[in-house]
Amino acid sequence: MSGTQLAVVGGTVVNDDWHGAATVLIADGRVTRLAAPGDPVPTGAQVVDATGRLVMPGGVDPHTHIDMALGDFTTRDGYREATTAAVWGGTTTVVDFAIPMPGQRPLDAVKARREAAAEGVCDAALHGCVVEWDDSVPDQLREMAALGVRTVKLFTTYRDVVMADPGTVVEVMRTLRELGGLAYVHAEANHLVEVDQRRAEEAGHIHASGHATTRSELAEVTAVNEVLASARSVGAPVYFVHQTTPGAIDAVRRARSGGVAAYTETCPHYLTLDDGQYAEPSPELYVCCPPLRARETVEGVAARALAREIDTVGSDHCCYDRSQKQLELSDVRLMPNGMPGVETRLAVVFTELVEQRGLPLERFVALTAANPARLNGIFPQKGVIAPGSDADVILVDPGERRTVSAGSLHMATDYSPYEGRELAGWASTVIVGGRVLVDEGRFSGEPQGGRALRSSPLPQDRLIC
Ligand code: URP
Ligand code: ZN
Ligand code: ZN
Repeated sequence: MSGTQLAVVGGTVVNDDWHGAATVLIADGRVTRLAAPGDPVPTGAQVVDATGRLVMPGGVDPHTHIDMALGDFTTRDGYREATTAAVWGGTTTVVDFAIPMPGQRPLDAVKARREAAAEGVCDAALHGCVVEWDDSVPDQLREMAALGVRTVKLFTTYRDVVMADPGTVVEVMRTLRELGGLAYVHAEANHLVEVDQRRAEEAGHIHASGHATTRSELAEVTAVNEVLASARSVGAPVYFVHQTTPGAIDAVRRARSGGVAAYTETCPHYLTLDDGQYAEPSPELYVCCPPLRARETVEGVAARALAREIDTVGSDHCCYDRSQKQLELSDVRLMPNGMPGVETRLAVVFTELVEQRGLPLERFVALTAANPARLNGIFPQKGVIAPGSDADVILVDPGERRTVSAGSLHMATDYSPYEGRELAGWASTVIVGGRVLVDEGRFSGEPQGGRALRSSPLPQDRLIC
């Protein structure tokens, strides 16, 4: 922790339940106090001028794939590169997935990744991942929880790679319930995806340009409903990653009214990009799972974000580059899926939802920082500016707009899905653990190593956001 004292003065502080003028006082890496504007600043404190700026908790990205080896491809970044890009974009905590390599135990994947966190320039939390149930899994989950890893990824698709069968899904949920844990589920019904893909192949649409037809909305909604039934059956909470369709989001809302503690995440790309990208040059750059949807569907997802029916926005950051995306572009079943986005997440959400659609600032903080922290058991350490919280604070000039170009971003890739777009919501100053790391366009600070965060037990029977 830094011994420096900071005073962030003159800005508008925004938490998920309040905004107003205040001075943020920081010492030893933590927020010590929110003082009234004009109150004296402690002697010796470094003053950070936030006049005209929003002062918000650093972003918490609940869905990043760092140094991910999945199938035949490995993403281009490690913790150092990914967290540096995150911080440039105003995200000061990432949550990564410990996906086991073939033959590796889930617990060993978690242990290896916890050590890698020290290479980062900000803190990281982890999701475990279970692919196949066996008698050793309950003890492994207990040991993960003892290490502070209580969220566990389950894929209902990607057969022969990481797909978990319905029995595994339900047993993991049942065990997590005892541990104060939470299943993070990628929900697409694989058998229906395979029907979609076969149909696309027969129609000659299995190329990247036909990606939208290869994983249907029906496949997503079907899996969400099945997993919700499992959650209801064992009385466990459940979090759905990267939801893309009104039907899936509405199913979660209905389940909540029926007493299931279920949560919806979406991603920046499902709030703004549509399947028209697949008809443009370089469709492979936009191949992700689930695919980008029709404009009407994107509008339906954005409307639900405005209506408080979405709980978090995660980047689903997958740092492949153009050369990797181009290798198998004639067959989406063989291509690396996913897009880079840890650096652009806050700007895309701010532009799309706050600037263009009037989302209240408190809700922006809820979606991008506070709720992801809650749903990873790291609130109020992260996700809020309050006495005792880690001093991860960003300053945003709401009037400043930048045009995206991959060359001026910091992710370890050579493209951005948002190339050429003008976005607002960029962090001009980023304070991590009480150190000013980014200041007015310069990476100025000396970062300390990132910490592997420990998740507290999560409530099982009530909603926490
Ligand atoms: O296309 C995606 N999302 N790739 C990364 C793995 C996953 O499914 O999250
Ligand atoms: Zn996924
Ligand atoms: Zn993902």
